[in-house]
Amino acid sequence: MKRLAGKTAFVTGAASGIGRASVRLFATEGANVVLIDIAEEAGKAVEAEIIAAGGKATFLKTDVTSEDGMATAFRTGLEQFGRIDILHNNAGGSSGRDGSLVTAPIEELWRVMRLDLLGTILACRNAIPAMVKQGGGSIINMSSVVSLIGVPDLDFYTAAKGAVSALTRTLARQHAASNIRVNAIAPGITMTERVLAASGGDTSRFPLSQKQILGPASPEDIAAAALYLASDEATKVTGVVLPIDGGASAW
Ligand SMILES: NC(=O)c1ccc[n+]([C@@H]2O[C@H](COP(=O)([O-])OP(=O)(O)OC[C@H]3O[C@@H](n4cnc5c(N)ncnc54)[C@H](O)[C@@H]3O)[C@@H](O)[C@H]2O)c1
Repeated sequence: MKRLAGKTAFVTGAASGIGRASVRLFATEGANVVLIDIAEEAGKAVEAEIIAAGGKATFLKTDVTSEDGMATAFRTGLEQFGRIDILHNNAGGSSGRDGSLVTAPIEELWRVMRLDLLGTILACRNAIPAMVKQGGGSIINMSSVVSLIGVPDLDFYTAAKGAVSALTRTLARQHAASNIRVNAIAPGITMTERVLAASGGDTSRFPLSQKQILGPASPEDIAAAALYLASDEATKVTGVVLPIDGGASAW
């Protein structure tokens, strides 16, 4: 029996990196998948790949920071598949413009707050009423190890991911009575194309890499954690911020 048979999963930022690894794995495990991303060509390519492999997928070009856009995407996905069992709030990410809050441009603060925090909030706002109506669901937010340990010079990203971790715990308490579980994953350095490009293939220059004693993660390592939290194997797990960080938070 496939671990997500009969379920429908909405995944944001599904066109590349960790989100793409998650939708691939969710679909392999029997879920219908709704891919939300701004990258149309890449998103359609993942949709086509999943359908060609016998899965059910739909790509919806949507900016997670758009209130109207997210309402439309969730309405469309729900019309197509009839339910939402899993919401993986994955769209997000730091940029080279972050740094010390003394010097980094304030626009970068609003960029990450909108993408990582507002995007998560808008998705939850649209998904939770549908989950309540159908009797439950699993929400998996994407936080970061920076919400658990101090990592200098990522101040704005840390603020946004700290908020995502805090929100995860409060939503878990608030919606447990509706059988909605809310967890987060806190990855360390994970070798997506974005991180490969930012590091020139060598993450040893990132201060965090010295703490990541098992080495960098792959997108598939993170997707495996998302699958666990999405599945019925985790029915008693909620409010957790799960580090997949090669041991970085053990220091
Ligand atoms: N890669 C890492 O080392 C790492 C570490 C910790 C946490 N994370 C978190 O994991 C998540 C995924 O990271 P990744 O490295 O796979 O990123 P990525 O850049 O590879 O993929 C992000 C995806 O989100 C999409 N996206 C960007 N802005 C969007 C928007 N406004 N609306 C909809 N889609 C949008 C992009 O098109 C892209 O497909 C992020 O939340 C990131 O903060 C990543």
